[in-house]
Amino acid sequence: MEIFIADHAGFCFGVERAVSLVEDTSKQFTGVYTLGPIIHNPQIVSKFAENGIGVCYNPEEVNEDNTVVVRSHGVTKETYATLASRKVNVVDATCPFVKKAQNSAKKLGNEGAVVVVYGEKNHPEVKSIVSFIDSRYVIVSDVGEASVLPDENCYALVAQTTQNSESFDKIAEILKTKCDKLIIKNTICNATSLRQASAIDLAKKVDIMVVIGGRNSGNTTRLYEICKNICANTHHIETKEELKKEIFDGCRKVGITAGASTPGYLVEEVIEFLKEVSMSSINNNDGDNMQME
Ligand code: F3S
Repeated sequence: MEIFIADHAGFCFGVERAVSLVEDTSKQFTGVYTLGPIIHNPQIVSKFAENGIGVCYNPEEVNEDNTVVVRSHGVTKETYATLASRKVNVVDATCPFVKKAQNSAKKLGNEGAVVVVYGEKNHPEVKSIVSFIDSRYVIVSDVGEASVLPDENCYALVAQTTQNSESFDKIAEILKTKCDKLIIKNTICNATSLRQASAIDLAKKVDIMVVIGGRNSGNTTRLYEICKNICANTHHIETKEELKKEIFDGCRKVGITAGASTPGYLVEEVIEFLKEVSMSSINNNDGDNMQME
């Protein structure tokens, strides 16, 4: 069985940065919390907990004795204000790409456009983006919701950084028919687009796809959905323990991808597992063969 790994998979720049900021902060301060899980990956969050780094869900729970790390997908304007009023030491790990989405949405709203945010309504990043908009906005989670928007003079379209590029373009086409002026600011980050594009390429040429990452991770779930559409035999797992050898029976090519919040060691563990499957397969005459896609 040949093992292929998507060209772009696993930790993105923003997550890598957030994780290192938490590590560095815990060396400098005591009473360190992350505001919500630092990333959507339960295994990393548990590791931090073992090292005494807590998770708090409400800025009212912390005070001047604490240091709080703001996670990569950002927090609302109101949360920053609460932290400031409580004199909490804040280390801001908001990804610069999320900051860019927040700033673009605010600026376009101030310029008079009705801001359309393409994203998941309840996702913390989307909540953070809209909190910075001082004017009218609407959140659309898919093409269907965009198609029922009313006509306006001017719409401005931005996106949650981890959304699907293809759907973003479709929503832009729909909005063009609904206003005199449409400003498009594609705030989907490059890491997401690259992960999606390389997952698509890989899913087309394998018999089975394994997508690794937290079930609470939006970008991992989207990678899974994208791959599943192309390769029906696609599996979303968090760790190698969820894999059963039998699902690889008769498969000659396996593809692996991982969400932007999936640490490298979890990917390595899956690769090791697949190498064992490959070696132990009595039907496989090819031996184990791992390639980067
Ligand atoms: Fe940032 Fe993109 Fe990662 S927005 S956190 S680099 S998925």
